[in-house]
Amino acid sequence: MIGIDVVSINRIKRMHEKFGIKAYEKFLNSNEIELIKRVETAAGFWAAKEAASKAIGTGIGGVCGFHDIKISKTNKGAPKIKYKKKIRKKFNIKESHLSITHDSGFAIAVVQNIFN
Ligand SMILES: CC(C)(COP(=O)(O)OP(=O)(O)OC[C@H]1O[C@@H](n2cnc3c(N)ncnc32)[C@H](O)[C@@H]1OP(=O)(O)O)[C@@H](O)C(=O)NCCC(=O)NCCS
Repeated sequence: MIGIDVVSINRIKRMHEKFGIKAYEKFLNSNEIELIKRVETAAGFWAAKEAASKAIGTGIGGVCGFHDIKISKTNKGAPKIKYKKKIRKKFNIKESHLSITHDSGFAIAVVQNIFN
């Protein structure tokens, strides 16, 4: 199953200007926050987590929150995504793939899940 999401980079920028680090903590863990060197990346991560929630058919909410999804990067800068174990088990997820792009004020992410 796949999921996609688009986010206005300005929206994330305004959120960060208003709430500072707390804005990022709402949807990112500390390892993810360390990867943020510019707001485009943060917007991409937001889109990635929304897309991941769609790729299990729930959306962000009670079943799958922002903190149930973890993003990391390879040494070449490619983003990787993994759900917490309880989600992987519940939805029978074998592996997950993520791609992110940003341009012209928007960040877009696509997530693909391969199931067992
Ligand atoms: C990585 C690359 C595909 C990004 O494409 P782009 O059009 O510049 O930028 P986009 O907005 O579409 O994508 C950026 C996102 O791609 C993702 N990305 C970065 N490196 C990646 C890689 N090796 N593989 C897959 N995805 C990658 C990241 O999520 C990045 O956003 P983030 O760092 O904010 O999280 C492109 O820069 C590239 O081909 N780089 C490798 C070659 C290179 O670095 N050449 C320059 C020196 S010779």
